[in-house]
Amino acid sequence: MIEDLKILKEEFEKEISSVNSMNELNEIRVKYLGKKSKVQEFSSHMKDLSIDEKKECGRLMNEFKVHVENMISDLKIELEKKLLEEKLEKEKIDVTLPATKIRVGGIHPITKVINEIEDLFISMGYDVLDGPEVESDLYNFEMLNLPKGHPARDTQDSFYITEDTLLRTQTSPIQVRTMLANMEKTPIRVICPGKTYRKDNDDATHSHQFHQIEGLVVDENISMSDLKGTLEIFAKKMFGEKREIRFRPSHFPFTEPSIEVDVTCANCNGKGCNICKNTGWIEILGAGMVHPNVLNMCGYDSNKYTGFAFGVGPERIAMLKYGISDIRNFYTNDLRFLKEFDRIEKEDL
Ligand code: PHE
Repeated sequence: MIEDLKILKEEFEKEISSVNSMNELNEIRVKYLGKKSKVQEFSSHMKDLSIDEKKECGRLMNEFKVHVENMISDLKIELEKKLLEEKLEKEKIDVTLPATKIRVGGIHPITKVINEIEDLFISMGYDVLDGPEVESDLYNFEMLNLPKGHPARDTQDSFYITEDTLLRTQTSPIQVRTMLANMEKTPIRVICPGKTYRKDNDDATHSHQFHQIEGLVVDENISMSDLKGTLEIFAKKMFGEKREIRFRPSHFPFTEPSIEVDVTCANCNGKGCNICKNTGWIEILGAGMVHPNVLNMCGYDSNKYTGFAFGVGPERIAMLKYGISDIRNFYTNDLRFLKEFDRIEKEDL
């Protein structure tokens, strides 16, 4: 048996010297230390030996086992190191190579203007509300004091879906929805941004789809001066601290009195230039005091409550703010335009 052990050891030495992978190493471990190994087989024959032989064989067998274990664990460390080195070699990165350009999208100018206006009004305690783009004639027109056949409907040429449903021509129906939904008739302070649609032929200043931001405040004792103060803050925030505003009488069926609001031209500081057509003023939005008929139809007692409303066009604000002359630029997704705008945005920061 001592001879057999010697041969076994030689066999082991030979085999382990040619091991190259973890798998092979595992096979050797099983072969020499596992339950069906030769060493195990030898120990089952130990009972046939004399006491002295048993002692000697036992010692040699233990020595062999320890030897095998040590060799295997040394080789394991070596193999792991080799594998890691191979992996590092394979995954080597040449940091001197030019990097792949990562294209980062920018915020669309219209979204940027809407975000800015939302932030301003939220800071003044307003809520931001939403409404459906497919709207009923009732909310889009009738309850806004525009009964069927009213001539002012012609100024908002509409995409009708059925006789009573249309793509909203304005965000003003959200006024109606907000007032009706407010069962307790508590004070309202909201802005409502969204898409609107009109059957216009697209050109540099018209688009069949555009955006509006509706503003609505209803409470006791709301007056025209509240509207003026609010819009002054708005104009200064959007166009600079030096801007002044003025009100011009106008007409909207759902406000009385109605006004159009101008801001002093940011390009010439009100002196007159080609942007403001030499007037020094630029029109930015329509507004007015909520018409008593609208308040009453929406369940607010017009003897007790008053309110103001305004409608801003983010496209118009963006065109003025960033010197964009063609509204179609916002919708054609020309990356050259959008990237140019992204640059402006970064410089803004
Ligand atoms: N909805 C009006 C329009 O589209 C704008 C507006 C809103 C005017 C609120 C007054 C008050 O022309």
